[in-house]
Amino acid sequence: MKRLRLGIIGGGPGSWIGHVHRIASRFDDKFKIVSGVFSRNHKINQSFGNSIGLRKDRCYKNYKELCLAEKKRKDGIEVVAIMTPPGSHQEIAELFIKNNIHVISDKPFAGSLSQAKKLYKTITRNKKIVYGLTHNYSAYPMVRYAKKLIEEKKLGDVEYVNVEYIQDWSNGKKVTSATAKKVFKWKLDKKIAGVSTVLNEIGSHAYHLCNYITGLKGVKLFADIKQYSKKIKFDTNAQVFIDYENGAKGLFWASTTAKGGVYGLKIRVFGSKGSMEWVQNDPNYLKFSSANGATKILERGFNESHFSKKFSRIKYGHPEGYLSAFSNLYREIASKINSKNRNTRFFFPTAYEGLLTAKFIDGCVKSSSKKKWVSF
Ligand SMILES: NC(=O)c1ccc[n+]([C@@H]2O[C@H](COP(=O)([O-])OP(=O)(O)OC[C@H]3O[C@@H](n4cnc5c(N)ncnc54)[C@H](O)[C@@H]3O)[C@@H](O)[C@H]2O)c1
Repeated sequence: MKRLRLGIIGGGPGSWIGHVHRIASRFDDKFKIVSGVFSRNHKINQSFGNSIGLRKDRCYKNYKELCLAEKKRKDGIEVVAIMTPPGSHQEIAELFIKNNIHVISDKPFAGSLSQAKKLYKTITRNKKIVYGLTHNYSAYPMVRYAKKLIEEKKLGDVEYVNVEYIQDWSNGKKVTSATAKKVFKWKLDKKIAGVSTVLNEIGSHAYHLCNYITGLKGVKLFADIKQYSKKIKFDTNAQVFIDYENGAKGLFWASTTAKGGVYGLKIRVFGSKGSMEWVQNDPNYLKFSSANGATKILERGFNESHFSKKFSRIKYGHPEGYLSAFSNLYREIASKINSKNRNTRFFFPTAYEGLLTAKFIDGCVKSSSKKKWVSF
């Protein structure tokens, strides 16, 4: 079996998501990492590349040099994976798309709506490339099963969608003007983090999950975004009312400064026939409550949840989690790149979903500053 030649941009020392991408790309043996730019600092870049077994001449000074040089090689990269901060996603992705190299990008799709619109145009114009966006929570087996149950109308019509994604980036400590840069790093800088840090960093995942599971687009919203403090100015908390296209109502909360709230991603969907609940910290289970029956706990790969087996590698009863869900995306993107059948359904998030998320985030920023409902 041919492994796809992969180049990596970003994800150098200190970036834990870089490690996750590298594991996910090799989990199913569909990719071989052959080149990269892991840091803006070339020395760090080369020593890091060396530490993961890359040849010196394939660790480049920057992504432009990588693209140009790899394009000229017979054994040059076929796919690039981007895991730099949000503000650079658009320009890096566009260069590779224009050079007919498939793109796997970490979220958010782009730093702002104007960047997202440009990137979306470039992607949809090029029919030769596959673009995949690593909204990895959508790849958990029981999230995929939840999506299927909603498509099959097991909840009836969706009426309410409540989502929350809670973190605490200060690690429980008080951050002052003197320590802010050390704790929050580039996340303080809009040019790097994009239009809203909390929404780009974790809100994008939460809103995407709502779209992904329910298949519904939001149309109007009212947002209240809070900054860390008067002195340390960057968005850290967002509460949003969302009206969905079918009339369903949504409640959304994302926070990077909720003390004691560590990695709490939770979604509940209520329909005319019942409700479902999925919590990322306990990802192998989906709670299903019928409107007029008892609550059931559905388990990954077990009995009626057999559809979830398609996205699972470990037998039910044993825990399976984050890394294998992330790897589902790499596996599916490789299958799409190698697929000859245009009718095959793939489940990984694409540019369209990225654009919807960028519209949501842009709407939130406008609504919060005007203190008004906005369409998006
Ligand atoms: N999918 C997820 O669950 C998840 C989790 C964490 C982060 N992320 C996303 O990953 C991206 C990076 O976040 P992070 O937390 O790893 O940041 P980070 O600062 O920890 O790491 C970024 C890495 O990219 C490198 N880099 C920056 N600009 C570069 C450039 N132009 N060329 C080459 N290398 C460059 C830096 O040297 C660093 O090694 C963000 O978009 C973030 O939203 C996604």
